[in-house]
Amino acid sequence: MTSSADSRLHVWNGAPRVRLATLPTPLERGPVIGDGVQLWVKRDDLTGLGMGGNKARKLEFLCGDATSAGADTLVTVGAGQSNHCRMTAAAGALLGWETHLVLAGERPEHLEGNQLLSDMFGAHMHFTGAGPAEWGVLETERLALTERLVDDGRRPYSIPIGGSTAVGALGYIAAYDELLEQCDVEPRAIVFTSSSGGTHAGLVAGRAWRRHRGLSCPPVIAIGVAKGVVNGLPDVAELANEALRRAGLPGRVESNDVEIDTRWLGDDYAVPTDASIAAADWGARHGAWVLDGVYTAKGMAGLLGNVERWSPGDHVVFVHTGGHPEVFVRHDRS
Ligand SMILES: Cc1ncc(COP(=O)(O)O)c(C=O)c1O
Repeated sequence: MTSSADSRLHVWNGAPRVRLATLPTPLERGPVIGDGVQLWVKRDDLTGLGMGGNKARKLEFLCGDATSAGADTLVTVGAGQSNHCRMTAAAGALLGWETHLVLAGERPEHLEGNQLLSDMFGAHMHFTGAGPAEWGVLETERLALTERLVDDGRRPYSIPIGGSTAVGALGYIAAYDELLEQCDVEPRAIVFTSSSGGTHAGLVAGRAWRRHRGLSCPPVIAIGVAKGVVNGLPDVAELANEALRRAGLPGRVESNDVEIDTRWLGDDYAVPTDASIAAADWGARHGAWVLDGVYTAKGMAGLLGNVERWSPGDHVVFVHTGGHPEVFVRHDRS
């Protein structure tokens, strides 16, 4: 019998890719902001795959690689309310693979948000007790669990935090092209939220590939929402060039292609700021966009905070990377 993964498998520029997302996602015209800048929103919150988000694009390539490797199990890791873990669980459900999630924190009495969904998708959740941003501890646990699964006779494909490997980044090389093909007018900038760096690496790699082909290639601006990325980890240019090499695509990312605006993180990952709370309400009231408190509200706060960089008549795109389930675990309103 053909497995679900095999029936979804195809090849994109030499890289195995499994169809999981509903693509292309819409590019939506938003309001005019600042002094006359036209905002557009690339709706990657609408990728499908268990409530959508940027990880669907990465998982298409990660699961393609897993299929080629003959895997039967997915393992990954994240914060307690990780969108990446929830979407990996959704991919596992779709492909008929067992999925194991290594999560920060303790198992709560009642599951909610991404954890509730991951449970519905049938994933095994391993709560580590680690703090929400103790990435080193979480990664060590992921590797240990992967080894235990191998010892048990399974064939795990183990995915680092955020799916931000060169393979995962291929999803956003393709996305950059998809977005530019949708634009009638060349945007001045593409702004998005960055945490584990894979989305950023893919976008700058996609830009370098288009630049090499002589096509329109507006700059990308990452809004950093985790301490690692704000401190230059991972090396986005290196990851991007590795992704280009992996797919055999021409073009090169230079360090000055990588721009990370570090001013919107606030105290820490997942800690709201006045600007992020205001941006979430602004997005909800100006475009009916659901912006989550951990990622996209800080990203939108960054875009709005940069508006003076652009001139009247300019067009700017915000990539809405998802995160909807987090909205239902915010307890900051009565
Ligand atoms: C909703 C959302 N936006 C943005 C990001 C950041 O993407 P990346 O980890 O590729 O930097 C994530 C990552 O978990 C996310 O869940």
